[in-house]
Amino acid sequence: MSSKPDYDETLATHAGRRSLENHGVVNPPVYRASTILFPTIDAFDARWENRFQKGNVIYGLCGTPTTFALEDAMTALEGGYGCVVLPSGMAAVAMAILAFVRGGDHLLMVDAVYEPTRKFCDNFLAGIGVETTYYDPLIGEGIEALIRPNTRVVYLESPGSLTFEVQDVPAIARASHGRGVRVLMDNTWATPLYFKPFEHGVDVSIHAGTKYISGHSDIMSGLVTVTEEFYEPMRRTVFGFGQCAGADDTYAVLRGLRTMPARLSQQSEQAMEIAKWLKNRPEVGRVLHPALPDCPGHEHWRRDYLGASSLFGFTLRNNDRNAVSSFIDGMRLFGIGASWGGYESLLIPAYPESLRTATKWPNDEFLVRIHVGLEHKDDLIADLEQGFERMRSISSTESAPV
Ligand SMILES: Cc1ncc(COP(=O)(O)O)c(C=O)c1O
Repeated sequence: MSSKPDYDETLATHAGRRSLENHGVVNPPVYRASTILFPTIDAFDARWENRFQKGNVIYGLCGTPTTFALEDAMTALEGGYGCVVLPSGMAAVAMAILAFVRGGDHLLMVDAVYEPTRKFCDNFLAGIGVETTYYDPLIGEGIEALIRPNTRVVYLESPGSLTFEVQDVPAIARASHGRGVRVLMDNTWATPLYFKPFEHGVDVSIHAGTKYISGHSDIMSGLVTVTEEFYEPMRRTVFGFGQCAGADDTYAVLRGLRTMPARLSQQSEQAMEIAKWLKNRPEVGRVLHPALPDCPGHEHWRRDYLGASSLFGFTLRNNDRNAVSSFIDGMRLFGIGASWGGYESLLIPAYPESLRTATKWPNDEFLVRIHVGLEHKDDLIADLEQGFERMRSISSTESAPV
């Protein structure tokens, strides 16, 4: 494309395609490659010099036209200079952090972070001498007080994927950059459609492509998008750890990305309606949906985000495990399973109180995480309504005199 279109829907449809270079085929082909052949020994010897440059096909590990098509499409949507595709979201998290820290460094990590990211810090990073301090997701510019001379990275996940606090990204980025600290953010929840990280001071944006980008609950994928300054360090780290995504998965993630705007628009709209419906239910305490005023950090969402995806939380006033099981276990449409961002709806229990160290999560009510898929919202609401009915009947049986 010569000039950049105005709308993400158009970008998602066209970016990275290059059909005329591929016999007019609409989708970039699946290039399977390890060895790449060169015409001369001069060309072979020269390959190494430019191995981290964008679009260079020199060895399967460094990417193929299939990989670069996805990376280009992602960069077009998210901004930044370039993107690196990885085999899972967790690989993207680990590689992004490892590109910036060495033994003796210090990292500031948001207390609401995805649990395996926390474990990576507490176990792996601690083992190589990198110290982690957890901070309150709502700290804002107060982050400055936690920055030490050896702090290299401030890591955000906004909103937290269990508890949904929306962070003040620009304030944290300003304070961090003022002290020469890199800003890394897990942007999986918003996708590149609903939050533009590079417009708000983020240096490195991390995605689990496993979620909305691939969108069909059948692929593991990770993507890291970076500014120009950090493109080569990122590629160098990923190469050093021997990380690359498979050709078929990369193709399928790009196919998912093409339809993400349509899926997300429908899923988000339904999620909003279901969130409002839940808010009016007597069984429900809090609804933690970033687009609703009660959600901590809602004002940051209103100021900085372009939309809300279809993952949110709510609490059940009845904290009794049996009652909660009766609500979740019998669902017809909502599946019980980890991950999210696919086309189908999910419902799981969440236990943030056992993870937090910098802040306390009240566990007076039972937290449930809901992912709204593409089923019709009235069917989903009927499923939830029957769940509340089961919960009510078990509560009344338990309290009935014997
Ligand atoms: C916010 C967030 N980041 C990263 C990941 C890791 O992604 P993956 O499951 O692809 O390793 C997840 C997975 O649930 C997640 O929720």
